[in-house]
Amino acid sequence: MLESIRLLYSTRLGRAYLGDSLELLDSVPTASVNLVITSPPFALQRRKEYGNLPQHEYVDWLALFAVKIWRVLAEDGSFVLDLGGAYEKGRPVRSLYNYRVLIRFCDDLGFNLAEEFFWFNPARLPSPIEWVNKRKIRTKDAVNTVWWFSKSDYPKARVDNVLVPYSDRMKRLLADAGRYYSPKKRPSGHDISTAFSRSNGGAIPPNLLEIPNTESNSNYLRCCKLTGAKGHPARFPTRLPEFFIRFLTDPGDTVLDIFAGSNATGWAAERNDRRWLAFENERRYLAESAFRFAEPQDDGCIKSLYRLLMGHETFGVHIESTQRQMNLWKAEQGVEL
Ligand SMILES: C[S@@+](CC[C@H](N)C(=O)[O-])C[C@H]1O[C@@H](n2cnc3c(N)ncnc32)[C@H](O)[C@@H]1O
Repeated sequence: MLESIRLLYSTRLGRAYLGDSLELLDSVPTASVNLVITSPPFALQRRKEYGNLPQHEYVDWLALFAVKIWRVLAEDGSFVLDLGGAYEKGRPVRSLYNYRVLIRFCDDLGFNLAEEFFWFNPARLPSPIEWVNKRKIRTKDAVNTVWWFSKSDYPKARVDNVLVPYSDRMKRLLADAGRYYSPKKRPSGHDISTAFSRSNGGAIPPNLLEIPNTESNSNYLRCCKLTGAKGHPARFPTRLPEFFIRFLTDPGDTVLDIFAGSNATGWAAERNDRRWLAFENERRYLAESAFRFAEPQDDGCIKSLYRLLMGHETFGVHIESTQRQMNLWKAEQGVEL
């Protein structure tokens, strides 16, 4: 089992570990994880504050983690990898690194590509400035590739859990099917039968996920502001992991994020009744991520919790019971924390 010394905090359903996930993965029992979903540091040309590798070393580096992920994944488990695109250094030419990762993982490591997804963030700012804004020779890159890998041909998956609202057109058709279409074979060969006019509670989602990355009013950001914490610079929206958690796991299953950052994955898992593990090697990011689980109670408690988690000696904080204790102590002593 995972070493308790690395456990920074825990919640009702999850455990957040501080350390290099390459090492932490070795402590995870074989075939015990149903979904690994993660967003690694990308192979960007400009180095970000949390350390990105140059593109040529990137695929080898990421493959080291993927080999270990294979062992911890259940046979019907999934591995979902969010990778942002990049340009070659100094050239208006796209890097192929995310496709090289895909091919390496499938050809050499044995993963299947169950399906490719594309995360469209309409709120993305135009970049790189040189090609997009100044010279105006490239469009805004607003899509990340999200590879859904599996060990078997039939990973656990339930589309019914992620149905999206019907379009207005489809709603009109469902309300008055006879008026809009008659069952027959289409020129495409598709047999549009009467079943088409039956409501299934929602439409099957496409593999293009439109999710703006514009979180602005969460407890996480409020607490970051309150404590003077900077917050994680490259968070994905919680709706992204939430889609795959609902699609690819059942309540009670275990979800792991090996590059957890602000632990958007853990938060999405917790609120969907899945167990979760989060690995992150920067104490600051992991300490701040606890804000996602903290009761939005008084400011003194939040500041004390943050100070506690940032302490070099601190490990094993249970968020709910620590907050309860702080409240009790505050009430007994009649003091502000
Ligand atoms: C792109 S960010 C992930 C952000 C996350 N998806 C979120 O929504 O907040 C990648 C994270 O991986 C962490 N990281 C990089 N190498 C790591 C390693 N070997 N072990 C654990 N964490 C690592 C970085 O500190 C960074 O926080």
